Amino acid sequence: MITKAIVFDAYGTLFDVNSAAEKCKDRIGDKWEGFANFWRTTQLEYTWLRSLMNRHKDFWTITEDSLEKSMKVFDIDMGMKNDLLKLYKILSPYPEVKEVLENLKKKKIKLAILSNGTPALLSELVKGNDLQNLFDDLFSIEEVGIYKPSSKVYNLPVNKYKIKPNEVTFLSANTWDVSGGGNYGYNAVWVNRNQAIFDNLDYKPINRVNNLTQLLDLI
Ligand code: 2OP
Repeated sequence: MITKAIVFDAYGTLFDVNSAAEKCKDRIGDKWEGFANFWRTTQLEYTWLRSLMNRHKDFWTITEDSLEKSMKVFDIDMGMKNDLLKLYKILSPYPEVKEVLENLKKKKIKLAILSNGTPALLSELVKGNDLQNLFDDLFSIEEVGIYKPSSKVYNLPVNKYKIKPNEVTFLSANTWDVSGGGNYGYNAVWVNRNQAIFDNLDYKPINRVNNLTQLLDLI
């Protein structure tokens, strides 16, 4: 299989979604991790529900709406809301990300992000972590107004680069996103950072990696 573009999911794959709550763990206490997981799950549920209800709101609004619910559920002082939101805008990348991207950049294959994030959020995340020169494109679902795993989203890089779905190697740590991309026709690779269990959603990735460094052996 020829790879003409390597496309990365952003949240959870390149950037650690739990890092915002982790940076506040002294104030949140031991429940910080349960809270972070609940916030993430609620955020994703809102993307799917809004897509099904045909009531789109951008990812930043959804992030705030889901944070508010999660803070209530976990009884966290609402005074921390703005701090958590600020930290979400500058999420930390996983440690290997920059070096892997620099290596891939030498291969002259298109490198892109395909994410639920708004164009402004993605650009801030990438610039804030000094990764702005490494990507050819930051594809945002805002272009099509519906969230992953709609095929309209997975179409974006295929249309722009005029390539076939199976010429895209797509990496995501979100199992449902690997299933979505795989069912669409991508060569979808699962970044299994936490020894998780894969989904039963009609696609089993041929390639799985534990971190992005292992991707260098596949390309
Ligand atoms: C992303 O699209 C799924 O949140 C994940 O970046």
